[in-house]
Amino acid sequence: MIMDKGVVWITGASSGIGFALTKQYLEAGWQVIASARTQGELVALSESYENLTFVAFDISDDSQVQAVRETLMLHTAHLDCAILNAGTCEYLDMTDTDPDWKMMDRIMSVNFFGLVNSVDVCLPLLKKSSHPHLVGVSSQAVQAAFPQAEAYGASKAAVRYFLSSLRMDLKQFNIDVTCLLPGFVDTPLTQKNTFSMPFLMSSDDAAKRMFKALASRPFEFAFPKRLSAMLWAGRHFPKLWLSMLAPKKDRND
Ligand SMILES: NC(=O)c1ccc[n+]([C@@H]2O[C@H](COP(=O)([O-])OP(=O)(O)OC[C@H]3O[C@@H](n4cnc5c(N)ncnc54)[C@H](OP(=O)(O)O)[C@@H]3O)[C@@H](O)[C@H]2O)c1
Repeated sequence: MIMDKGVVWITGASSGIGFALTKQYLEAGWQVIASARTQGELVALSESYENLTFVAFDISDDSQVQAVRETLMLHTAHLDCAILNAGTCEYLDMTDTDPDWKMMDRIMSVNFFGLVNSVDVCLPLLKKSSHPHLVGVSSQAVQAAFPQAEAYGASKAAVRYFLSSLRMDLKQFNIDVTCLLPGFVDTPLTQKNTFSMPFLMSSDDAAKRMFKALASRPFEFAFPKRLSAMLWAGRHFPKLWLSMLAPKKDRND
């Protein structure tokens, strides 16, 4: 059964991919409950769409879980889909004499534990749908190692494993679970990157591909395929990948 309309909860909806997904679902006639810490770009959108509701949620704060769930319940009796997209990125600098190891906590608390908190919020509402779908956003970064991505890559690998295990345990409730692995998307998160981002796409393009792919509820959807192929090569030829990507030591050091 393909669900063409329903109620969707999207986290990280105030900018970038989440905002573009929110527009996609609104245009397709879904009721969208959008969450983030701030409304950001959603402010302008809420003037044009009656089927959009904003519910503030800091996903890293587990003390908000119950209150957010109760607020969602004021707006809907069930969720057909939850797209857990909120996330952040920071890069570890090993040339620093005192590397910022606390970054591991910061990134894991949003990207991994924040996603877990979001599942905690929405699971009872998904169970009330006739055909529920839980979606989490990982990253193509998990397909091969990138320099400085110790925190980000580990958090997204944890998300991927968490979702694949959860898929097993939610099957008995008929909840489908999809893990999305986007490549480089032009958003505020990547606009601070100083390295080249092959096959960079716009957030609207990424959201269109995600929306289309989610209709068939795949276990995973990694895109664009050209980047997947490049990362496949990186995974299978790790020495070559290392020699290409590892930062070179300054000869004057
Ligand atoms: N852009 C890419 O190339 C790319 C590639 C692969 C995967 N991804 C993943 O895609 C997702 C969206 O990223 P993006 O590129 O669209 O980034 P973005 O434009 O920076 O958006 C991030 C969203 O997450 C929200 N957020 C951040 N921290 C939060 C928190 N503690 N609680 C609640 N919401 C929080 C932000 O809203 P507030 O600040 O208002 O809370 C914002 O809506 C992330 O999970 C990212 O890792 C991105």
